[in-house]
This record gives sequence, C-alpha cells and structure tokens, in this order.
Amino acid sequence: MFFFWVPLTLCLMVGSINALLPTFGACPDVKTIEKLNVTMYLGKWYEAERYFSISDFGAKCGTFNYSKEENGSLKLLSSQISSLTGVESSIVGRARPIERADDPKFTVSYPSLPIQYPMPHWVLGTDYDTYAVLWSCSNVGIFSMRSAWILTRERQPPVPVLEQAYKILDKNQISRAYFSRTDQKNCPTVTN
Ligand SMILES: *[C@@H]1O[C@H](CO)[C@@H](O)[C@H](O)[C@H]1NC(C)=O
Ligand SMILES: *[C@@H]1O[C@H](CO)[C@@H](O)[C@H](O)[C@H]1NC(C)=O
Ligand SMILES: *[C@@H]1O[C@H](CO)[C@@H](O)[C@H](O)[C@H]1NC(C)=O
Repeated sequence: MFFFWVPLTLCLMVGSINALLPTFGACPDVKTIEKLNVTMYLGKWYEAERYFSISDFGAKCGTFNYSKEENGSLKLLSSQISSLTGVESSIVGRARPIERADDPKFTVSYPSLPIQYPMPHWVLGTDYDTYAVLWSCSNVGIFSMRSAWILTRERQPPVPVLEQAYKILDKNQISRAYFSRTDQKNCPTVTN
C-alpha cells in the first residue's frame, strides 16, 4: 500500500504541475531517443499539451525551465498560473540522468516536498528547437501512474510542430485521447 500511497500523495502535493494519471496495468514499453544533448535541451519550454488530470482545472500558462547550476546539477523550474486567482506558482525540481550524462531518462525530485520520490522523466523525442515529448510512468502494484507532456519552444506553436510531437506519441502507442491543451493565452510575458 505504501508504494501506492507515495506517488498518489506526491501527485496531490505537486498538484497539476506533475499530476499523474492512475491507470490499470503496468507501464507500457516506450522508446526514448538514444542520447540527449543536455546543453541543447536546456532553457525554457512552454507546456503545449499534457496528460489530463483533475487538478488541471484552472491551471494555465505552464512552463518548464531547465538550467544547469554551478555544481553541474540540473534544475527544473516548473511554473503555472491559476486562471481563477491569477497567482503564479512554481516548484523547483532536481533532475538527474539515470545512467549516463547524455541519458534521455531522468529522475526529478522536489526538495521542497516532505516526501522525496524520484519521478521518472523520460525524453521520448525532441528536435531541441521546436518540440519535446516527455513521459513519466511508475508501476504501483497493479496500477501505473502516468503522465506525459508536449513541450514547445514557442508559446503558440504552429500545427506542424505539434504534429511532429503527435508522431512520437503514435509511435509509442500513447493515446492522444488523454491529452488536453494547456491554455497559453493572456499569459504574462515574464514567467520562469
Ligand atoms: C551538444 O550540442 C552542442 C551545441 O550544438 C555541441 O557543441 C556539443 O558538442 C553537443 N554535445 C554532445 C555531447 O554531442
Ligand atoms: C548543487 O547546488 C544546489 C543549490 O545551488 C543544491 O541544491 C544541490 O544539492 C547541489 N547538488 C549537488 C550534487 O551537490
Ligand atoms: C531559466 O532559469 C534560469 C536559472 O534559474 C534563469 O537564469 C533564466 O533566466 C530562466 N530563463 C527563462 C527564459 O526564464
């Protein structure tokens, strides 16, 4: 029960930024890119679409900003704005490549949370300049907790950019039906 409780609680605490969708069955096989050029991947991304979750209601303008700290560790700043209150919230995550420096499979943990649980954070595809597709899945008993994101460099990406991301989802048989578009309209220009 503990293993179920941890991701579930974490999911509630991190809120919509990292909300996970509990799904019956184990994590599916997905294919990441072979190597990630971290330098090219760094910087700001806009959340174009994400796996739907209850806590998404009223969250807009989601952004991810990856940066490298002086000691070489990777920081992920995720921000969003409540469409109800207009208040911005953000959380800092520490990203660690699982095996090698150019491993597209990361874990991200959140030092500000009372529970430290390294969440999988896998890059399924990216061209670095326009889109990235992220996948996160943890097995918890007979369930798996899943999340996925389509990130784009532009706040309002042109359709062909999204289509490239959809191709990655299709190739991995990740249903697009679970995705919802993130509202990126009327967002302040200076958010991290
Ligand atoms: C990553 O990309 C940068 C910029 O294009 C390049 O200079 C660097 O050699 C690349 N790193 C690796 C490990 O391929
Ligand atoms: C790197 O520095 C950050 C703060 O600047 C710290 O939180 C983190 O734990 C450090 N990482 C390592 C591996 O020392
Ligand atoms: C991303 O985060 C880094 C480090 O906190 C910061 O220096 C940089 O200005 C941020 N970039 C954007 C576009 O917000």
